[in-house]
Amino acid sequence: MDRIRIVGGRRLNGTIPISGAKNATLPLMIASLLTDQTLILDNVPRLADVALLERILGNHGVDIMVSGKRAGETADHGQTLHISAANIVDTTAPYNLVSRMRASFWVLAPLVARMGEARVSLPGGCAIGTRPVDLLIMAMERLGAQIDVDAGYVVARAPHGLKGAEIVFPKVTVGGTHTAIMAASIADGTTVIDNAAREPEIADVADCLNKMGARIAGAGTSRIVIEGVAKLGAARHAVLPDRIETGTYAMAVAMAGGDILLQNARPELLQAALDVLQRTGVTVTPTNQGIRIARNGNALNPVEVTTAPFPAFPTDLQAQLMALMTRANGTSHIVETVFENRFMHVQELVRLGARIQLTGERATIEGVERLKGAPVMATDLRASVSLVIAALAAEGETIVNRVYHLDRGFERLEDKLGRCGAAVERLSG
Ligand code: UD1
Repeated sequence: MDRIRIVGGRRLNGTIPISGAKNATLPLMIASLLTDQTLILDNVPRLADVALLERILGNHGVDIMVSGKRAGETADHGQTLHISAANIVDTTAPYNLVSRMRASFWVLAPLVARMGEARVSLPGGCAIGTRPVDLLIMAMERLGAQIDVDAGYVVARAPHGLKGAEIVFPKVTVGGTHTAIMAASIADGTTVIDNAAREPEIADVADCLNKMGARIAGAGTSRIVIEGVAKLGAARHAVLPDRIETGTYAMAVAMAGGDILLQNARPELLQAALDVLQRTGVTVTPTNQGIRIARNGNALNPVEVTTAPFPAFPTDLQAQLMALMTRANGTSHIVETVFENRFMHVQELVRLGARIQLTGERATIEGVERLKGAPVMATDLRASVSLVIAALAAEGETIVNRVYHLDRGFERLEDKLGRCGAAVERLSG
């Protein structure tokens, strides 16, 4: 298993290109199941989760072709995928694939909407809490699907097609909103979704669906109205930049010090996180090429932050902010309201010398003078990158084990940080 070795204490200077968003790419690829025409996606990141979803879609009979590099393109350019679900040969998504990536459960919606049936394994437990799928199932039932649970599988049937309906989510859910939009796009009649997730990736997927011929209004707000159409067709769409990768590298620079351009980043996708960074004393400057983040030798101010659905501070940046606050000049508080038990990184940060106390969903972080490198274990995607951030400011060597978590969501992390002066290398095997 690969590990990452980091020697702390180097400042970061230069440019980090921001990749296409993982959390938009996955539902966009899944949306290809809604049509027998080809969907072309540009700016697709090279991530383990994308490769796994290619396998899952392949199992349903979807053909995916990756375009060759064009002249002048480097690894910094995203991939272009040509995805064709002309022939769906199997409507079952098996446990061994779905259990490895929760978002693959979302194939349920387009499969039932287009094929009238789907059999998708329940995703199972996860390192960050129970993460149920009850609201996704509720949405499908509202649209007329008959749902049974059989031997660990959700079996959904709508032999006469889905029907538009009113769906009110009692809790904001990204996956619930994605699946409701996809299914409603080719349902018969109008669907209204209330208390929809407003994450930018929802609007990006709706944008693509509209290019395919869907009639979706209000995506990006909490009320979305969808006029079902009979069929969707071909389209070409470029994935929006990854706001979580952007925020992660912004915090890495804040931690290490230096001056970095986050190329292609868009400030409006993570304003709440940029506001928090400014409160810590970091300089944030939007430019026409991206966002510049700079910190000279000044101390970091502590902050009070509560995670919540977009446009608030994202749960997917909580672990990274906590790593940063371990070095603040004072005591910070972070409250996690989106996922229960999303504090797996705390014990690992403590191994590096952090002082953190947990009381329920509230973490109290007392800034320390110094962190010291140690072997640590990655537990989930965002937790593992928080260890990398801490390591950038730790004295001596940190080895991050179980790097496959990082590879799920961060493209060439060691390369991007290394080119800006960090002492970071991947140890294979
Ligand atoms: C998506 C993101 C993930 C991010 C999360 C919250 C992708 C691929 N993943 O995950 O990176 O951390 O949004 O911003 O886009 N819930 C239920 N019942 C359900 C569904 C969800 O109770 O049926 C709860 C969850 O346990 C959680 C909350 O709702 O407490 C939000 O989850 P949700 O927004 O659905 O997260 P995901 O879509 O899984």
